[in-house]
Amino acid sequence: MPLIIKDEYPETLFREDGKRLDGRDLNELRPIKMEVGIVPNADGSAYLEWGNNKIYAAVYGPREVHPHHLSKPDKGILRVFYRMATFSVFDRKRPAPGRREKEISMIVADCIEPLLFLELYPGTSFEVFIEVMDADGGTRCASTTVAALALADAGVPMKSLVSSVAVGKIDGKKVVDLSGIEDKAGDADLPIAITWYNEEISLLQFDGDMNLDEMNEFLDLAKDALKEIHQIQLNTLKSKYIKLQEETLKQKDNKKGEK
Ligand code: CDP
Repeated sequence: MPLIIKDEYPETLFREDGKRLDGRDLNELRPIKMEVGIVPNADGSAYLEWGNNKIYAAVYGPREVHPHHLSKPDKGILRVFYRMATFSVFDRKRPAPGRREKEISMIVADCIEPLLFLELYPGTSFEVFIEVMDADGGTRCASTTVAALALADAGVPMKSLVSSVAVGKIDGKKVVDLSGIEDKAGDADLPIAITWYNEEISLLQFDGDMNLDEMNEFLDLAKDALKEIHQIQLNTLKSKYIKLQEETLKQKDNKKGEK
C-alpha cells in the first residue's frame, strides 16, 4: 500500500520505538533477493527485489552494433537502457523515456564500463536492458547492482562486480538504504557504488544538505552495507553454478543407471 498520497509526507520518518517507518534500524538494508538466468531470450539476466523495488536486467553481447555508426574499430561499446514501467510508481509515469531515465542509464553505464575488457571486443556492443517494474527509492543503485549480476550471468569477462547503495539523512539521523518516502521526505541522499577489483568509488551523487565531515561518516556507513550487497551478489552467482553442477551429476548418475 503506498505510504504517500500525492505530496503529503508524514510528519516524522521514525516510529515511537525509534525504528524507521518500515521497521528498520538506522543501518539496516531492506530485504534483498536476487536471481540470475531468468530471461531465456537474453545472453544473461538477473532479477532483483530490494524492498519494494522489482527490477529485471537482461544482457546481449558481444554482438554487432546497431546502428553501425556507433561501433568503434578499436574497442567494444557498452549501452545501458534504464526504463521505468508506467505502472511502477504511484503517479502514472509517462511511457516515453525522460531525462531521468537517460541520466540513470548513463550512471549505470559509467559504473559498469570500468569492469569490462572492452578493448578485447572491437566493433561489437554489449547492451544492458534494465526494466523497473516497481520503484520505491534507490532504483539507480539497485539497477547498477542487478546489471552487474546480469553481465556476470552472461559470462562476460569482468574485473569484478560493482555494488551500490544510497545512504542519507532523515529527520537529522544518518541511515542506510533510503526507501522511496525517506528519499522524498528526508534531508539528504547520497547514492554510492564501489567497484570491488580496486575498491574505488564509481558513483557518488548528492542531493540535500551535509558538510564534509558528515560526508566521510556517510562513506563509512555505506561500507558495511556495500559488503553485504556484494556477498548476496556472489552467493546468487554461486548458487546458479552449484545447481548446474548438481543437475549434471544427477544426469550422469541416471545414465549410469540405464547401462
Ligand atoms: O530511484 P532513485 O532513488 O535512484 O531515483 P530518484 O530520481 O531519486 O527517485 C526516487 C524515487 O522516486 C524512485 O525510486 C521512485 O520510487 C520515485 N519516482 C516516482 O515516484 N516517479 C517518478 N517519475 C520517478 C521516481
